[in-house]
Amino acid sequence: MKPIQVGLLGFGTVGGGTFQVLARNQDDISRRAGRGIEVRAVCRRDLAAARAAVGEGVRVVADPMAIVNDPEIDIVVELIGGEGVAKDVVMAAIDAGKHVVTANKALLAVHGNEVFAAAHAKGVMVAFEAAVAGGIPIIKALRESLAGNRIEWVAGIINGTTNFILSEMRAKGLDFDSVLKEAQRLGYAEADPSFDVDGIDAAHKLTLLASIAFGVPVQFDKAHVEGLRGLSSLDIKYAEQLGYRIKLLGITRRRDELGGIELRVHPTLIPTQRLIANVEGAMNAVMVQADAAGTTLYYGKGAGAEPTASSVVADLVDVTRLATADPDHRVPHLAFQPDRLDGSLRILPMSGVRSSYYLRLRVADETGVLSRITTILAENDISIDAVLQRESLEGERQTDLIILTHTTVEEKMDRALEFMQSLPSVLAPIARIRKEDLA
Ligand code: NDP
Ligand code: HSE
Repeated sequence: MKPIQVGLLGFGTVGGGTFQVLARNQDDISRRAGRGIEVRAVCRRDLAAARAAVGEGVRVVADPMAIVNDPEIDIVVELIGGEGVAKDVVMAAIDAGKHVVTANKALLAVHGNEVFAAAHAKGVMVAFEAAVAGGIPIIKALRESLAGNRIEWVAGIINGTTNFILSEMRAKGLDFDSVLKEAQRLGYAEADPSFDVDGIDAAHKLTLLASIAFGVPVQFDKAHVEGLRGLSSLDIKYAEQLGYRIKLLGITRRRDELGGIELRVHPTLIPTQRLIANVEGAMNAVMVQADAAGTTLYYGKGAGAEPTASSVVADLVDVTRLATADPDHRVPHLAFQPDRLDGSLRILPMSGVRSSYYLRLRVADETGVLSRITTILAENDISIDAVLQRESLEGERQTDLIILTHTTVEEKMDRALEFMQSLPSVLAPIARIRKEDLA
């Protein structure tokens, strides 16, 4: 059978990796897919760079629409990124009846409902394994392998750049800016690294995982998102002393009693003895709590050329196998049949989230401070789990007070923080980091 024809739009880190993996493993890939998978054309604006990388025999273009409009191309692989040109080419490809493979979580988290509806109407596939956690097959696991389960929660380290930054800061005492530069050099960071640092990239991925886990439309705009910017290296150090690691976690949890789901990304303390607390560098890990399977953990490289290409190529194999199948018998994009997505399951506001907390207060080293603070916590029904007070340095007359609380509701903590912050003996903004046991 004639090889299926692929057009690669975007030929940077992931596009280049995809081309290499396809070329290197072409025999095994075609034996798995049932026919060859051939790159017919690649697209990037720097034509000379593209030509040098692919050699003769592959068409090189600067205009993505030249690939979308090529009648010989069966599958469009979108690896440009962002929501501008990428959205135009994905929608045009679907409209032209072509299948799409993409690693673009930003596009799908924001416009996924529109993209999937258009693909469903046209009977084409949009495959996006590479969009979440790079080389880890978490989409397939959640959508297919756990299809018999009721999912309770999903929690994951789903941004390699921020995990790399946190790991290097903790282990080597390096500063934030130099570690971010290294992550960019290694090809982990997004074109705009604030997407990584501010938690937006993790929230894009979590939005997709939540939709697949709970059968809800994609709702990135309702996610609670906090990144690393407010985090001090002091907190990384104190957390370590108390037996915790700080990770940027994406958490989505079913809350039946409130008729909704939590959807949140923020720095989180995790007990050091948990496997996920020991996921270091650019590695990713996703934990899934399901009623039948129990807890499962998926670990691997979450970014970089070939790990991400591994998922892109797996999608190419899937699409090749299913291209001639009846569209109604394919796996639905978001795991649940499109007419069975539950729009009534709302995304809960952060005020209702239940969590325990790490608090760091810079306080005057004077009589009665601890008692005033613990009184405020008690008055707000917040129970203390542990307290650590650093000895003040000679002549300093101020110190750090670290408090771990038991589980409470976010709105009670917000209220207590307001009262504590207004005390004259609290000398700086209070650091608050949520804590999860993930047991
Ligand atoms: P790069 O910036 O490395 O590559 C983007 C490519 O798109 C370049 O070849 C660029 O080439 C080309 N391009 C950009 N704009 C246009 C345009 N208007 N027309 C034609 N070509 C264009 O990005 P990545 O490979 O890192 O990321 C690609 C996608 O994969 C993104 O959605 C990203 O979020 C996702 N992703 C990335 C991962 C990673 O580890 N890097 C992991 C998982 C997902 P030129 O400038 O010459 O046009
Ligand atoms: N910038 C992303 C990360 C790439 O660091 O995880 C992988 O999606």
